[in-house]
Amino acid sequence: MHLKINFSGRSLDYSEEEIAAVVEAMRSADPLTQGSYQAAFQEKFRIFNGAIHAFACMNGTAALQMTADLCLFQAGDEVVIPSHTFTSSAYPFAARGAKLVFSDIDPKTRVTGAEYIEPLLTSRTRAIVVPHLYGFVADMPSIMELAEKRGLLVVEDACQAIGAELEGEKAGNFADFGVFSFHSHKNLTTLGEGGMLTLKDEKRAAIVPLVRHNGHCAYPEDRQDYWRPAMGDLDFPELEGRRIWPANYCLGEVECALGIKMLERVLEINAQKRARAISFIDALSGYPELEFHREDSPRHNYHLLAARLDGPTSLRDAFIRRMFGEFGIKCVVQYYPLNRYPFYQKLGLGQAACPNADDFFDHMVSFPFQHNLRNDQCAYMLECCKKTLDGLRAGTGA
Ligand SMILES: Cc1ncc(COP(=O)(O)O)c(C=O)c1O
Repeated sequence: MHLKINFSGRSLDYSEEEIAAVVEAMRSADPLTQGSYQAAFQEKFRIFNGAIHAFACMNGTAALQMTADLCLFQAGDEVVIPSHTFTSSAYPFAARGAKLVFSDIDPKTRVTGAEYIEPLLTSRTRAIVVPHLYGFVADMPSIMELAEKRGLLVVEDACQAIGAELEGEKAGNFADFGVFSFHSHKNLTTLGEGGMLTLKDEKRAAIVPLVRHNGHCAYPEDRQDYWRPAMGDLDFPELEGRRIWPANYCLGEVECALGIKMLERVLEINAQKRARAISFIDALSGYPELEFHREDSPRHNYHLLAARLDGPTSLRDAFIRRMFGEFGIKCVVQYYPLNRYPFYQKLGLGQAACPNADDFFDHMVSFPFQHNLRNDQCAYMLECCKKTLDGLRAGTGA
């Protein structure tokens, strides 16, 4: 069976208007980085999200690296983060000296919550990272209440949750830091790479441009000659008397031009994906062994469509094998608990008491769910899913 529905690495098709915006920026942007498109994209995103400050950057990982810089960790500081997430939600914090402490996830929503975080807090906890995985906004009001009581920094990893909202507030806006990705697979993608960092604190915001771009800054006063003593100044970004090493995390002008345009469509994309997810889930209601997280509200943007297949892991494997081998539909399994990777084991983080995260990974199926799937492909996937489940029920699928 040849591949009929890929788990595509690309999320969407661009409209002619979006393509034209890119072409226009290719023709006219000068410079091609750090110009007026970046300023406009940041401002449009800031308003879109209701954020106080927004900084475009080259990807979500860069936004997480800058966030970890701005946390100013001291030796012994701990960061609580779910084991069920993408790796770059976590390693930037470890790379800057924090010890990661893995929290569990809710078995129904598959994101973390205050009840999983609170028992892990110690006098050394400095920050909490909350990934809104799959595009579902975690219960931020209760996490923020807990963090405020304990004086902790909170990072929302909203890389998958652009435009999703809870109680009228957009993902990324509850916490000290909001991190977004415009990677190829996301509901908004700026040609494969792109990211945004939002934050509230003025002092931190003031140094982000230096952290983002090599420590370059303007001279504080007017100079007689613009080239003396140099074209621009260079300094360490400093916060609370501590120096931060800068890097170059800038996003190009063409990507920013596309981001500006795509912000006009992302809520429509979210709504279309959500409607499609709900109808797929409802059409499979006769198969309760396939446990979806059904959320028919803007709290979920259904960046991904994942389910838990009840039964032994071998049943899940048989499901994926049959969907692929017999019907050419490529489902995948995502978010290997971080503590199971050699990378984290080498950091001494091989143990984690996260039974829900382990259970979900061992039973999960993530369906192809890119926005540019056609209706006939979705109908085919639904029918094949039913046939596969029928086969498994009859004991002929394994
Ligand atoms: C939850 C999560 N965090 C972080 C990232 C990193 O974003 P990027 O790929 O833009 O660096 C991603 C996506 O790729 C993600 O899904």
